[in-house]
Amino acid sequence: MSIGNPVHRIDGKLKVTGSANYAADFSVGTPLYAELVTSTVGLGRVTSIDDSAARAVPGVRAVYSHANPLPVDAADFFGAGGRAQQSWRPFESADVRFNGEIVGLVVADTLIGAREAARSMRVQYEEQDPAAVFGASGLEPEDLPDRGLSMGDIEQAMEASSQRVEETYTTYANTHNAMELFSTTAQWAGDELTVYVPSQWVEGFAAGIAEELGIDAARVRVVSPYVGGGFGGKGSLFTWTAMVAAAARDQGRPVKLYVTREQGFTTASYRAETEQDFRLGATADGRFTGFEHQGREISSRADTYVVNGGENTARMYHADAVRTGVTCIHADRQTPGFMRAPPEAPYFFALESGVDELAWKLSMDPVELRRINDIDAEPVNGVPFTSRSLMECYDAAAERFGWSDYEQTVGARTEGDWLVGWGCATATYPTQMGPCAVRIHFDATGQARVWVASHDVGTGAYTVIAQATALALGIPVDSVKVELGDSRLPPGTIAGGSISTASNVSAIEMAVAQIHDRMGTTAETMDPTAAFEAFGQRAIEEYAEWIPPAASRQQAKTLYNGKVAIVGGAEEDYTAFAFGAQFAEVRVHKYTREIRVPRLIGAFAAGRIMNEQTARSQYLGGMIWGIGHALLEKTEVDPRNGKIVNANIAEYLVPTNADVQELEAILVPETDTKVNPAGVKGIGEIGIVGTAAAIANAVYHATGTRVRHTPIHVEDLLPQA
Ligand code: MOS
Repeated sequence: MSIGNPVHRIDGKLKVTGSANYAADFSVGTPLYAELVTSTVGLGRVTSIDDSAARAVPGVRAVYSHANPLPVDAADFFGAGGRAQQSWRPFESADVRFNGEIVGLVVADTLIGAREAARSMRVQYEEQDPAAVFGASGLEPEDLPDRGLSMGDIEQAMEASSQRVEETYTTYANTHNAMELFSTTAQWAGDELTVYVPSQWVEGFAAGIAEELGIDAARVRVVSPYVGGGFGGKGSLFTWTAMVAAAARDQGRPVKLYVTREQGFTTASYRAETEQDFRLGATADGRFTGFEHQGREISSRADTYVVNGGENTARMYHADAVRTGVTCIHADRQTPGFMRAPPEAPYFFALESGVDELAWKLSMDPVELRRINDIDAEPVNGVPFTSRSLMECYDAAAERFGWSDYEQTVGARTEGDWLVGWGCATATYPTQMGPCAVRIHFDATGQARVWVASHDVGTGAYTVIAQATALALGIPVDSVKVELGDSRLPPGTIAGGSISTASNVSAIEMAVAQIHDRMGTTAETMDPTAAFEAFGQRAIEEYAEWIPPAASRQQAKTLYNGKVAIVGGAEEDYTAFAFGAQFAEVRVHKYTREIRVPRLIGAFAAGRIMNEQTARSQYLGGMIWGIGHALLEKTEVDPRNGKIVNANIAEYLVPTNADVQELEAILVPETDTKVNPAGVKGIGEIGIVGTAAAIANAVYHATGTRVRHTPIHVEDLLPQA
């Protein structure tokens, strides 16, 4: 079955009745409360801290800073194979590396007392001018030649083209702003530590906390059964988490920290801004000749974090020659990190805008231009796709959208005072997987229980895991109980890279096959009472470790070490991607230049879909986020001092109901028998990819103004003086 039943979320009732425990909801007796103090300068050093007013606040227990540090070591940076969101620890020196960095931690009897004390801290700085944004002086570029791809002679291929696009596209920084605020609650029982923290990676967090505290990872338990929005922002170990645990050890009491919305902008990760130089040439009949994509990405001074989307844009279409590259631009900023489709969201804005620009130059329908350059094998190494339904997606979405009425003329259509434009773009995401272990218990009453340290970050993982187990065993979904989000469970995968469903379902099917094998049963004929009677046992339990086919022996060993080993996308012997096509209609007001998106239709093919309903929700959620990427979201950094000036959800704009009008996701059936045993491709991230380009392309169609940056604002469409 390629599209699974639209089973309602099994945790839905818990969530809507407020009964689901998110990390900060766990009760730990009478905790102390911690509050962060963050820097107000963008670069420099702390010269003095006067905490007398803070200590005078009733109930204040401790004030930690570089002058009174907590015993916390730095853990390895996740971008270098570790778990931590950055490579340095706060309080290791008086240095301030960016605006909003943690410079103090106050612990008090009450939340309000901790907040008051934190705000009473008098921190003096020696301040320098930061280089915080593109164009600032003092940025430090680091070329990463081994991250680039090269095939053929790019200059020759560009020369052989009859039309070419050569442009620079830029994307602005974005901040996650999940509904659930960041937090950490730490409780010690002797030398056993339990940490409640919203997490997409409980195993990695446990190992990282142990590393930072210098204790055995077996003594750390990380609990995060429900997550109120992950999107990558809860995928690497927070800087403050081990600090809270160390403070709890120091105080001999549980400690709870709520990170404010504003502090979440600077103390957690984010999507950094990019600049991309893009070249694409084509022959007169539309065949692509040369493709070049060079990115520049902002990171912190200390850490090299790049998403390097050219790695995947290069795999999309035919090309005679390919060259990609990436440069890390070290700036006085916090270290960036994962955000939904980290490489693809920014880099496909450039690719899919560029393909559209070329279609106009060739006077060719942009859908047909993509069809001409559709391929079976990625062009760099010639490795075949496990399956690729890109054009099926275009055809399905185009038909639903009414694309046959498309006329390639700027301003062809108006309605009253509105200029109407249409645009389309490709969506994709590499199909990735990671080693995953599950334990399944099945008993004579027909009930099954599944344990795995995977995560439901709001995606529907509880439901999909229950469905997969039920389907494989041959029992009803409501006979399956699922436990996730606890590092004491069998090691699952990070909830990142859209790997969870493929990895979990593959492991579940392996464990269930072992059960059937031992019991001599099949899903089709499963009758638990009879089966267990014949088997002569009241219950059975099986454990399976699933290792993805392309994983090396070394990667397989990461399973019990809190390390991540993601394989997939462009591999040596297969290329695995999910595909989609997005079609947008925009309206731009003739006089005010207000931009609306009355219609957004996407079609996606991602192998076997486990649950039609939760899958559609993933696509729609991604597309809505894509509207934000195109038109609204912008983390504004003041170049003078590196301060984020809209660090709140009043001024950091995201799409709300009126911004989202007709919205539809079409599920295109696809069977992929090569990608993994489950036949599942990831769908958590693909929905945002291409949306911004589809909207920008529609804006051009409506107005004739080609905007090569996100977000597109009213002022971009004003008549140019
Ligand atoms: Mo996703 S950005 O890989 O959590």
